[in-house]
Amino acid sequence: MTSRPAIPRHIAIVMDGNGRWAKARHRPRSFGHNAGRKAVREVVEGCLREGVEALTLFAFSSENWRRPEEEVGALMTLFVRALDKETDELHAQGVRLRFVGDLAAFDQPLRERMQAAMTRTTGNRKLHLNIAVNYGGRWDIVQAARDAAAAVGRGELRAEAIDEAVLGSRMCLAELPPLDLFIRTGGECRLSNFLLWQAAYAELHFTDTLWPDFDQASLHRAIEDYGRRERRYGRTGDQVATDKG
Ligand code: FPP
Repeated sequence: MTSRPAIPRHIAIVMDGNGRWAKARHRPRSFGHNAGRKAVREVVEGCLREGVEALTLFAFSSENWRRPEEEVGALMTLFVRALDKETDELHAQGVRLRFVGDLAAFDQPLRERMQAAMTRTTGNRKLHLNIAVNYGGRWDIVQAARDAAAAVGRGELRAEAIDEAVLGSRMCLAELPPLDLFIRTGGECRLSNFLLWQAAYAELHFTDTLWPDFDQASLHRAIEDYGRRERRYGRTGDQVATDKG
């Protein structure tokens, strides 16, 4: 009898390497970001095929504003184009699109487009696709703490009642399955302030593949790698084996 392979319910990806991919082709960085957009499509298809429930992509970090103005502008244009071009198909495929992060920093037309895409796809359940923009893991923890503090101020919550569950429920993506697999492409092995709270028990998968080259086969390899991990949550290997038996 063959047992079903373990499929992560929720995958997060730091899509790194667009710039180097473009540089290797003597093209501007925006060319790499554009190729990165195609890889996003590949991975969404892959997640739908593999039965992953939620996919969270780091598209623009709170630190990315420090990039040259021209590159930031090119990325914004790319996001708008991608929204205009992809929302119909994502909707048809049953994908629920959500933007997470401090959206207040974006200009009004972009915010309106993001909101329209979220509203339009809100009833979809095949795949939760979360795009993190102007997002930072520490920002996420701070906004959850502020929200809890405000509830204390209003007399709706006792300070002593604040525990992991109370704070966790105020964090981005709280209503989705816990993060199982954290992937980073482009050869760096760090979290870069992405989903710090949510990644507490995630399996980490680092690959040298540059993001524009990351395809469905790469995703499948990452999922296979995940399937070989033993998730212990603080228990011993023997305890985990006994539970499985
Ligand atoms: C990191 O590569 C990539 C980004 C900061 C932008 C990610 C954006 C996309 C993949 C575009 C499409 C996204 C959506 C959601 C439509 P880098 O520029 O840091 O690469 P480098 O490390 O090689 O310089």
